[in-house]
Amino acid sequence: MLNIRIEKTQNPKAKPEKGAPLGFGHIFTDHMFVMNYEEGKGWFDPRVVPFENISLSPASMVFHYGQEMFEGLKAYKGEDGQIYLFRPEMNAKRANASNERLCIPEIPEEDFVQAVKAVVDVDRDWVPEEAGTSLYIRPFVIATDNFLGVAPSKTYLFMVILSPSGAYYASGLAPVGIWIEDEYVRAVKGGIGYAKTGGNYAASLAAQVKAHDGGYSQVLWLDGVERKYIEEVGAMNIVFKISGKIVTPALNGSILPGITRNSVLKLCRDWGYEVEERKISVDELVEAAHNGTLEEVFGTGTAAVVSPVGKLRYKDDVFAIGDGGIGELTQKLYDEITGIQWGKKADPYGWRQTV
Ligand code: PLP
Ligand code: COI
Repeated sequence: MLNIRIEKTQNPKAKPEKGAPLGFGHIFTDHMFVMNYEEGKGWFDPRVVPFENISLSPASMVFHYGQEMFEGLKAYKGEDGQIYLFRPEMNAKRANASNERLCIPEIPEEDFVQAVKAVVDVDRDWVPEEAGTSLYIRPFVIATDNFLGVAPSKTYLFMVILSPSGAYYASGLAPVGIWIEDEYVRAVKGGIGYAKTGGNYAASLAAQVKAHDGGYSQVLWLDGVERKYIEEVGAMNIVFKISGKIVTPALNGSILPGITRNSVLKLCRDWGYEVEERKISVDELVEAAHNGTLEEVFGTGTAAVVSPVGKLRYKDDVFAIGDGGIGELTQKLYDEITGIQWGKKADPYGWRQTV
């Protein structure tokens, strides 16, 4: 249990007006959670303080070698006025899997969840109410030693910041176009692909710019060795419905183990679908698209929720999925997941927590 000190702002900011478009990740609330780490001392001074700039030496290690971890989850405002989190203990677990890979000290899972709840509680009036909006929560750790040698830092900052947000894609729930990248790769087995850390996203930018320039929302990555097997999308895992079966890349060490992916697969299995977590080659996908057995494609992610994919591009081939609209299963999963998240549906798995 953390003994969290709370210092409230004397200058609260104006909140976004009701109904104003929020976009994703532009607006920040009045407070943030901060906790320090020093080797030999452990994590100390947990606090919720006014959101403000932080001061770091230009020599801080995070600026040079990218030793950092981040997470992403959301707080949802229910019609009953309650504020809900969705499986935050899974984010705490994954944070520590990333921490371990990056030589960042472990944060006890219950402390991680307590920190998230503490800052959301202080800023609970910032959780937006309009349909499809939520408070995006960004916990992260950065290495703060002032040192230019390559080594694990001995000091860190753990922070949690909050951003009232709308849909991740400007198009909302409308189907997105995805660019299957055949030149750049994101991650390889043995690397940091399964960790949630800035370097993976830095590695993704060049391909994302290419995809955007080509008129596509995001990149679908192929494996880093053969450039043959489907991995995941820039900010979401990818799921296919092929001949009635649910098929998705197995967690192989180079993709992020998504919490939405885990939840969606559980629902599909419980609804009686056959679910295959395995290797899927891009050739298999192209063939399924051409012979009409590729029935639905969707991405899963905290920011992206369940996002229908309407169009895929691979080299010179562009194929529409189904009729280019939202697939039946995609819509049903979106309704079920968001229904649980917003407290509108029963929660048989105990995924929802109240703040
Ligand atoms: N893959 C990547 C690269 C991501 O950035 C995300 C988003 O967090 C996901 C997958 C989906 O993970 P989750 O469902 O836990 O948000
Ligand atoms: C999330 O879904 O939480 C993400 O982190 C996606 C992206 C904004 C990096």
